[in-house]
Amino acid sequence: TSFEGKTAFITGGASGIGLGIAKVLASRGAKVVLADLRQDHIDRALADFAGGGRSNLVSALQLDVTNREQYRDAAKRMLDEFGGIDILVNNAGVGLEGPVLEATYADYDFGFGVNVGGVINGFVEFLPQMIAHGRGGHVVSTASLAAEVVMPEWLAIYASSKAAVCHYCEAVKPALGEKGIGVSILLPGPVKSNIHETQQNRPAHLLQSSGYKASEERLSRRIVGDNWMEPEQAGELVAEGILANQTYIVTHGYYKDAMRARAEAVLAATPDVKEEAPDFGQFRDE
Ligand code: NAI
Repeated sequence: TSFEGKTAFITGGASGIGLGIAKVLASRGAKVVLADLRQDHIDRALADFAGGGRSNLVSALQLDVTNREQYRDAAKRMLDEFGGIDILVNNAGVGLEGPVLEATYADYDFGFGVNVGGVINGFVEFLPQMIAHGRGGHVVSTASLAAEVVMPEWLAIYASSKAAVCHYCEAVKPALGEKGIGVSILLPGPVKSNIHETQQNRPAHLLQSSGYKASEERLSRRIVGDNWMEPEQAGELVAEGILANQTYIVTHGYYKDAMRARAEAVLAATPDVKEEAPDFGQFRDE
């Protein structure tokens, strides 16, 4: 099915999963804007598109999703150039990792700033235009399967930031649905990308005092597995997920037992129902 006439704004769109989504949406006729922190990624991605067809549908802009002023300018530009966007893909993220007891505020600020703050900024800046233009639309946010299982301690900041994205998207979906805007959460397992370059995406002030320097330097040497999913394959799943307004788009099944175990652990600690459901709708003086 076609995305002809739609405009998609994809953060982190110049590499990995975001670029895979961009390629698939453009191949199905969408106008695609790659919004990315890294000019080198943007240059490479645009060159890549120039080699294939549909490059006339693709443009790019440099954006740090944590910079609200820059983000507001980008959203304004989309309104002026495209009459507003139809699809927002909140995909920019960083795969920070390290021994949690050595984490500093710089690590928390970096992880939550990009992975949660960047997603929230996307919603705040784009929802007004998506509601005002009246065409409806869709917001996809990239979380991670790490949000759905109990992760090792060195991924505590990453996993909890991604869990925040999931719960936020789940909670806003009904209200946005009333405005004709669908909401999906992408939950990827291993996909071929440059996420091992996370340290390069840290602003200097969040690198200096990081407790994750050594572990992220090691991460930068991690080998991308041959059997990890191709980004375009994740992109196809996203395209179908948008069309079906799927809440969850899941790339891999290997965490199924761990996902179930986590849900079961919460249920096992939950008392059997003995009481009426609470009424939170009563207020003084009303
Ligand atoms: P990637 O590093 O190849 O792509 C991410 C892009 O986001 C890069 O081009 C980077 O320059 C950009 N970016 C980073 N910080 C930014 C910022 N502050 N503002 C704007 N752009 C920024 O990595 P990948 O893997 O494609 O990551 C995409 C999303 O997928 C992330 O949210 C990541 O957490 C998530 N993810 C990836 C998995 C994988 O196996 N590759 C698994 C689960 C989740």
